[in-house]
Order: sequence, then structure tokens, then C-alpha cells
Amino acid sequence: MGEPCLLLRAKPVEKFDTEALHQLIQDMEDTMQDMHGAGIAAPQIGVSERVVIFGQKASDQTINPRYPDADAVPYTVLINPVVTPVGDAMEDGWEGCLSVPGMRGIVPRYMRIHYAGFDQFGNPVDRLVRGFHARVVQHECDHLDGVLYPMRIQDLKYFGFSDVFFPNQDFQDD
Ligand code: NI
Repeated sequence: MGEPCLLLRAKPVEKFDTEALHQLIQDMEDTMQDMHGAGIAAPQIGVSERVVIFGQKASDQTINPRYPDADAVPYTVLINPVVTPVGDAMEDGWEGCLSVPGMRGIVPRYMRIHYAGFDQFGNPVDRLVRGFHARVVQHECDHLDGVLYPMRIQDLKYFGFSDVFFPNQDFQDD
């Protein structure tokens, strides 16, 4: 947090299935796995392009130590995303961010969203989702518009250190 790249509006990807795009996604995946993230956006590794990845591959059965109670979210590469709320209902939930290490905050998000975009090969992605899945997508896509979750916290009483709010959880390297 504080890096200028995290505050920019990222540029759309224009060419799919390129060596550079595959390398970017591999670097994001390595970083996400290393840091036990639920998702990551390209600006978080210093690349101002509209690329996010989130979720866990089916082959990886381990529970994410940073979000042990979360519903499973399928591993997804989402490029040039368009996120549309479905209905007005919002819900509060705890969030953290690999760019804001050691912290957690309660953030309101739309309960249900539709999202569309492309994978790294240019195939369309189109889903209607709710709950934690919807929260992760909103959080990651915010990164593409220079928005970090602390900017969305409504009551700063609920922004603080992970190990103070959740003393019994092991956040590992967070
Ligand atoms: Ni984040």
C-alpha cells in the first residue's frame, strides 16, 4: 500500500495468448500461492493491466489458512472484467489484502454480481455468483481501478491487525 501503481486505473489487455500474458499470469499465480491469497490483481505485482486471478485449483485440496471458512471458489483467470451488481443487497464481511499485510477490515460488498471478461486465451468468461465468490471478485476488480479495500471501510473501528481481531488464527506470512 502506497505504491503509485496500486492507485492507477489499469490498462485493458489487447492481445491474448501471448508469451508475456502467460508469464504475467504465472508470476501472479506463484505470488498468490506463496502468500496464501484468495486472489491477486496484476497491479499488485507492479503491472498496470486489467488482469486478476482468484480461487483454488481442484487439484489443490488444502484449505486457505487466510480464509479457512470461505466457500470454495474455482480457479479463474479474468481479464478486462466487467462487474455488474445483481440487486441492491449488500453484506459486510472481513477482508484482507496481500498489499496491506497483517491487517483486516469489514467491507460492505454486493451479495450477488454478474461478471464477464476473458481468460488468457481470449475465451469468454461469464458468471452469476454470490457470497464469498462475489466478494473476492469485487475486491480484485477494485484493484484495477486503483481502489484498495481500506478505502471502502465504513467504520474504521473494524480495521486493524489480523492477530488482534483473530488471535486464534494462524495467518502464516500475512
Ligand atoms: Ni487485494
